[in-house]
Amino acid sequence: MEFRHKSVLLEESIEALHIRPDGIYVDGTLGGGGHSYEICRRLSDGGRLIGIDQDAAAIAAATKRLEEFKDRVTIVRSNYCDMKKELGKLGITSVDGVILDLGVSSYQLDEAERGFTYREDAPLDMRMDQRQTLSAKEVVNDYSEMELYHIIRDYGEERFAKNIAKHIVSARKEKQLETTGELIHVIKAAIPAKARATGGHPAKRTFQAIRIEVNRELYVLDHSLGDMIDLLNDKGRICVITFHSLEDRIVKNKFRESENPCTCPKEFPVCICGKKPKGRVITRKPIVPSEEELEENTRSKSSKLRVFEREIQ
Ligand SMILES: C[S@@+](CC[C@H](N)C(=O)[O-])C[C@H]1O[C@@H](n2cnc3c(N)ncnc32)[C@H](O)[C@@H]1O
Repeated sequence: MEFRHKSVLLEESIEALHIRPDGIYVDGTLGGGGHSYEICRRLSDGGRLIGIDQDAAAIAAATKRLEEFKDRVTIVRSNYCDMKKELGKLGITSVDGVILDLGVSSYQLDEAERGFTYREDAPLDMRMDQRQTLSAKEVVNDYSEMELYHIIRDYGEERFAKNIAKHIVSARKEKQLETTGELIHVIKAAIPAKARATGGHPAKRTFQAIRIEVNRELYVLDHSLGDMIDLLNDKGRICVITFHSLEDRIVKNKFRESENPCTCPKEFPVCICGKKPKGRVITRKPIVPSEEELEENTRSKSSKLRVFEREIQ
């Protein structure tokens, strides 16, 4: 199957990176290589791009897409939470820019057997990294009702989370849930008919929630941003594109905290905590897609770009 994915906020994020032709850049969510291609085009022979993705299919597609840039590109199959370690293996201790374009690619969604989509019937899976053992099947069949409720409510922002969790637990008492089709059937039964008639596919929010849990998406993001900011050279920038309000909040808070990390009480005349600012937030408000992009690419709908610039004092 062809790797199809339309990059979101492409121009905006590339412009915000302030690319230096001889700089070192890291794309932590390589996907089909859309953003990376635009970075590579702006590099000279002295520049370098390291592309990271945990998905084997993305690695294969991006390797092909970026072939023309030869030695300027190094592709690594890993989780971006291990960026510092992976760069260390390449002898790199600091970089000029980092980009993250979170979530799943259209390719992952289109590949039915990966189990990300509620549009096809496939085994419950949803792993971005197929080497990982935890999949949607374990989440759906082994998590407690309370855990499922919290995940579906918080990560899916689903109004009927409680009832969906209850229905899942009662259905699996009869027989393990094995496929996306079986899960969709249970979700539909848990949502009142009236509510089902509006607001898109009834399983959309629950599927998103389970995917976020399977791939520990929020935990990974929250525990990686600090390292990435520390990796930046003076004036180096990190650009993060999010698709979920919780992701955006994590990025916003981490950037703010890095700009103003002081934890001294307000009434202290001078700082004694010793925590020094790491740089400044470039985007007070997130950059969102243009009307044109929203019309052209429905996947861009909830996307937000935030940018932080490192300042080394
Ligand atoms: C939205 S796509 C990126 C698309 C890419 N920017 C482009 O223009 O083609 C997100 C990609 O990031 C990968 N990904 C998501 N979270 C990751 C993580 N924690 N570590 C490594 N890769 C991750 C997914 O496997 C997917 O291929």
